[in-house]
Amino acid sequence: MQSNTIYEPVQEDLNKVEDWLRSVSKVDFSWLAKLLGYSLKGGGKRIRPALTLLVGKFYNYNLDSLLPMATAVELLHTATLVHDDAIDKSSVRRGRPTINTVWGEDAAVLLGDYLFAKAGELAATTGNLQVIKLSAQTIMTISSGELNQAFNAFNLKQTREDYFQRVSSKTASLFCLATESGAILSQAPEKSIKALKGYGHNLGIAFQIVDDILDFIGTEEELGKPVGSDLAQGTLTLPAMLLLERYPEENPVKSLFQNRDKQENIGLAIELIRTSSIVQECYGVASDYCSKACHNLSLLPDNAIRQALVQLAEYVINRKR
Ligand code: IPE
Ligand code: IPE
Ligand code: MG
Ligand code: MG
Repeated sequence: MQSNTIYEPVQEDLNKVEDWLRSVSKVDFSWLAKLLGYSLKGGGKRIRPALTLLVGKFYNYNLDSLLPMATAVELLHTATLVHDDAIDKSSVRRGRPTINTVWGEDAAVLLGDYLFAKAGELAATTGNLQVIKLSAQTIMTISSGELNQAFNAFNLKQTREDYFQRVSSKTASLFCLATESGAILSQAPEKSIKALKGYGHNLGIAFQIVDDILDFIGTEEELGKPVGSDLAQGTLTLPAMLLLERYPEENPVKSLFQNRDKQENIGLAIELIRTSSIVQECYGVASDYCSKACHNLSLLPDNAIRQALVQLAEYVINRKR
């Protein structure tokens, strides 16, 4: 199943989100306009704004607030990517050179700041204090997750709990914002808001686990971003953790983390992970989170939108990009 088929119930309005994103780059200062246009132009999956709009369809589908919020969620996501690439010194995103590569790290920091602020301004146009507060809290949570990752680089003493906590902060929190804000702005009943927040949380965890798997088994061509980069950054993700559990003594991940100059260990670890059952095991964990996400939907109306959210969970597991 392709994401564009799943988005079908909201496709027309997702096109309006694209218009809003284009209008964000219409500013007087030409350099800023260039950077905004570059970072916001197509190529991303737009999964988060699609979630906000799809969720909004269950109840009172009010585009006056759902459109600015869906746009805000994508802006916030873009800001985190621009900063993440600068932190990771990553060269490619969405198949194009990153902002930090073309314009430098300073520009990436300031562009990310601008995008965060613009997301805040758009969230404020909903006039809903609850989603404005949630948006601000989400930025705090993502920052703490990214800081946690940075300060734990090359740390071998990390547990699965640490991993899930970090993934929950740096990735699932934004999926939660996407679904919870869609539910709040469409005046969903309290129980449904909670359920849809839970769906976003579980889907977001699964999404990052799959991202971490694809970093080992994907290709740069398909993903539009470099592969093998997590180990190079010293980021201990689920596949590498499982490899450490399997071979606690002689292990390329252990050697790499203890003795950072041995780059050939990255190749060895990737090879070991690719050829073992670790990939399947990680997909199993991600699938469990997707099942939980679908279970969260059980009290919602059984309609085409619920069906689309179930298909989105399947897509998150099967995606190649
Ligand atoms: C990338 O997110 C960052 C992660 C949370 C892994 P996406 O894979 O949704 O990025 P785009 O928007 O489609 O490029
Ligand atoms: C993304 O995590 C989390 C963010 C908050 C941006 P990754 O570092 O795995 O994302 P990619 O792989 O660079 O897209
Ligand atoms: Mg990264
Ligand atoms: Mg990644």
